[in-house]
Formats: sequence, C-alpha cells, structure tokens
Amino acid sequence: MNENIEFLQAFLKNPAKVGSVKPSSPELAATMIEGLEPSAENVVIELGVGTGAITKFLQNIVPDHRSYLGIELDSALVKNLRRNFPDLNIVCGNAMETAAIHKRSGLGKVGYIVCCLPFVSLPAPVRTGVLEEVDEFMQQGCEFRTLQYAHGYYLPPAMKFRELMRKRYGKEKRSPLVVRNVPPGYTLTWDSK
Ligand SMILES: C[S@@+](CC[C@H](N)C(=O)[O-])C[C@H]1O[C@@H](n2cnc3c(N)ncnc32)[C@H](O)[C@@H]1O
Repeated sequence: MNENIEFLQAFLKNPAKVGSVKPSSPELAATMIEGLEPSAENVVIELGVGTGAITKFLQNIVPDHRSYLGIELDSALVKNLRRNFPDLNIVCGNAMETAAIHKRSGLGKVGYIVCCLPFVSLPAPVRTGVLEEVDEFMQQGCEFRTLQYAHGYYLPPAMKFRELMRKRYGKEKRSPLVVRNVPPGYTLTWDSK
C-alpha cells in the first residue's frame, strides 16, 4: 500500500496518537538522524515508528540488528514495518513501557532516543509516562531527539514540554525550521551524555 495512504488511515483511526496527516519528509528525517552514530553499545530506540519514514534513513546508519529498537503502538503499522524492515527489531508496544521492552530485548546501552510521538496531542498521563521512561535512559547518558510542528510550537502543551525538558536536561539544540514537511517542524535535541 502507498505510504501516504497507510499513514492517513492510521491518522483517521486515531488522530491524537498519530498527530499528523502525512509521514515525515526526507528533509525532516535528515535532521532527526543527523550526527547519530548507533552501535551495539549505543543503541538507537525509535518511538512511534509509524510507516517508517525515519526508519528508512536510520537503517542506513545502523550497523547491525543489535543497534536498533523500534516501538510502535499500532499493530497494523507494525505488520507492514516488519515486512519492509526485516532486519530491524520492531516491537508492537507502548512507549510508556520503553524500559521494560528494552530490557526484554537483551540489547545494550541506549545512546539515542529518536522520538516521533505527537506530545502536543497525546493525553497528559501518556506524555508524563513516556517522559519518565525516557528519563531512565537520560540518567545513564543518552541523546533524546524529537520533533515539534511549527503550528503547535507555542501551544501550552508544547511549551510545557520544553520547559520540563529544560529543567531536567538544560537548553535544547533546535534545528532550523524544516519547511519541506507537512506540517513544517523543528527537531529538538537534549543530550545528557
Ligand atoms: C507523528 S507519527 C510519526 C510516524 C513516523 N515516525 C514519521 O515520522 O512519519 C506518531 C506515531 O506514534 C505512534 N504512537 C502514538 N502513541 C504511541 C505510544 N504510546 N507508543 C508507541 N507508539 C505510539 C502512532 O501510532 C504513530 O505511528
């Protein structure tokens, strides 16, 4: 199935959890993976894999299957992801259980979290739960990267999210606005290494 149609179907099924009508563009994906050097001892976890718009670029920099773990909630998307990325570990699960999923996977230390969850539209308990999981990895030294869409950038949940992250991990590094994405957005990075 065409990736855009698959993504739109996922959005119509669950708009708040998907948070966008189109998969990330190659330009946005490039900012999400820039500078990452995953390895078996610097595993990259991708949260909210979707149709694999970022995964298809991540797979080019992942040296082997022990360097990547993807977590996606929607089982229909996971079925296609597993077909499209047979060499990658992709789990159907909830990002609120990231630490347990990582432990069960037997993979090594996590060096990077590439997070595509729509924090602005997710219910507050999910947002808080995911960030508690992220904190477990940040405490051990990890880089956290996420995207925020420009139209929601100054909405209270987006600003609250950034304030909380700044309190915990300091000022973020923000990419230039990626206009070649629907909707345009920024990549934000916090590094606790
Ligand atoms: C904005 S889409 C991003 C998809 C893709 N990474 C991209 O950039 O095009 C967000 C994805 O997060 C997934 N998602 C939402 N809540 C989740 C959760 N609690 N755990 C895991 N995945 C979740 C949705 O099903 C959706 O596929």
